[in-house]
Amino acid sequence: MLISGRGSNMIAIANNIRSGALPGVEIAIVISNTASACGLAVCRELGLPSAVFLSKGRPRAEHDADVIACLRQHNVDLVILAGYMRLLSPEFIAAFPNRILNIHPSLLPAFPGLDAQQQAFDYGVKVTGCTVHFVDEHLDHGVIIVQRAIPVLDTDDAKTLSARILKEEHEAYSEAIARVASGDYEIQGRRYIKRN
Ligand code: GRF
Repeated sequence: MLISGRGSNMIAIANNIRSGALPGVEIAIVISNTASACGLAVCRELGLPSAVFLSKGRPRAEHDADVIACLRQHNVDLVILAGYMRLLSPEFIAAFPNRILNIHPSLLPAFPGLDAQQQAFDYGVKVTGCTVHFVDEHLDHGVIIVQRAIPVLDTDDAKTLSARILKEEHEAYSEAIARVASGDYEIQGRRYIKRN
């Protein structure tokens, strides 16, 4: 699992693993690209193994090579981006084809990029949500696994909207991980198809 910040998605997934909701899934290693990520302190509390590879000022491919080596050392099967605020190099994506997942706080393809919740709020959409997708070489673009929609309320501001989206994220990400871990799916073009 790759993080850069508070790690609330990481915590939600770790809790779901603990409660038995994600059979066969374990967190092998949490990697942060910043030393100040609050999620790192949580890892210590939860007893999750973690590592830091500082990315600031380093060429992307060089930094990613270290991260890939660490992931390989831990025999990871799936790479879960959970608030990882750094674009992956093409080498990274090629190293784990269709095995990297990301969560984005909008209904893609609407509002890719930073501050998706604010973008949706400012645009005035009446429905938004979150998307879990495979990572490909384009930003917030890969095959969609799970989406959850919520209404934008007249009483919302960007903050209340973000909080309600985050609540959905915490469920949607585990749902997507369970589906991918089960292997019971196929990808047809841009379509993720569940077999059962
Ligand atoms: C989430 O909103 C996620 O959708 C986006 O970054 C945020 C990470 O939050 N990619 P957290 O670190 O998991 O709390």
